Amino acid sequence: MREKVGIFGGSFHPPHTSHVLAAERFLQAEQLDRLYVVPAFLPPHKALSRGAGDADRLAMTRLAFAPLGERVTVSTLEVDKRRACYTLETLCEVRDLHPEADLFLYVGGDMLLSFETWHEFEELFRLCTVCTLAREDDEPTLRRHADHLAKTYGARIKLLGSCVPTSSTEVREALFAHRQTDKVPSAVLDYIHTHRLYTREGEISRAQALVRETLSEKRARHVFGVVEEAEALARAFDCSEETVQDLRLLALLHDVTKEKSTQEQLVLCEEWNVALSEDDRQVPKGLHAITAAAFAAREFGLPEELTDALRYHTTGRADMSFFEKVIFLADYIEAGRTYPPCLALRRLFWEGMEKALPEERHAVLNHAVRVGLDMTLQDLAEEGKYVHPDTVDARDFLVSQNF
Ligand SMILES: [Fe+2]
Ligand SMILES: [Fe+2]
Repeated sequence: MREKVGIFGGSFHPPHTSHVLAAERFLQAEQLDRLYVVPAFLPPHKALSRGAGDADRLAMTRLAFAPLGERVTVSTLEVDKRRACYTLETLCEVRDLHPEADLFLYVGGDMLLSFETWHEFEELFRLCTVCTLAREDDEPTLRRHADHLAKTYGARIKLLGSCVPTSSTEVREALFAHRQTDKVPSAVLDYIHTHRLYTREGEISRAQALVRETLSEKRARHVFGVVEEAEALARAFDCSEETVQDLRLLALLHDVTKEKSTQEQLVLCEEWNVALSEDDRQVPKGLHAITAAAFAAREFGLPEELTDALRYHTTGRADMSFFEKVIFLADYIEAGRTYPPCLALRRLFWEGMEKALPEERHAVLNHAVRVGLDMTLQDLAEEGKYVHPDTVDARDFLVSQNF
């Protein structure tokens, strides 16, 4: 009898009980001799990966599927490539490992509905049988669609029944909010708790270790100063605990690549596909802001809304967000600064905050950022250095708003 080999891909971020249930049904229904569970590489720019890195996702996936026995292998085929892969590519690699086998591909019900948009989907239909589970409420729709695919493309599609779906997004949100979840196998939950995944506290301790281990003592002291300042600022604005923690994390990461040479920064941009404008290249000292943002997206899965505070912490830009302004200003006025204009700005800001009514605080922040930008522009002019247009835009924007 021909060997039967199954493939089950997903982001497994984290793996949850429905994944395991689906794999179990898949193994049984098709009597698979082997099942490859293939965690996908998560493209950093999609900001899907907050809370757990690739190594953790692999470890959790192994724990989640271990109870299904030796027929299941968690494969690093896609994660190792460090880029998004087409299913066809992975399927072909598995076929090369098992040239005589019948191949079966598991996809979620909603995936089957969009199958005709997949890269070379007809070739996929030629190479394997596609298996899926319906959500309890969409079985008729899925069945109709499976018939359509079979008639139109000669696809072999099997419905393995239905299940109550779980979403990894909901699991992640619950974990970040410190809510209980019973949607994750207990071994995975233990791993998550031991490694403090999907928590802001875990992210912060990882970033703290990174600062201590990779930056010089002097720079680390500055960074911890910015953390304290950003936290004080957030508290002065009565921010939620989540926002305070996000700002602490951003402060920790803002100079994470600062001690790399210009050449190293450029290499990182190249490696990480970060596009640089001509202006960016004219300001080598600002490159660390760009690479810090890319680092935070890649290694911490932070969304753009947060990484922009790193990206613009030296130049500023027009219409800066609250996160951007806080990191920009905290970097300027942290307690360790001894440069007299920084001290003056620190005084100006905090004295202004003391006097301000709650509704006037944002104006104090805007004004302080504007003064900071003026100082930057003046210093650059005195040193005869190139001025990034973002800095001029940032200042002009605030001036236009009368700050
Ligand atoms: Fe910096
Ligand atoms: Fe800094």
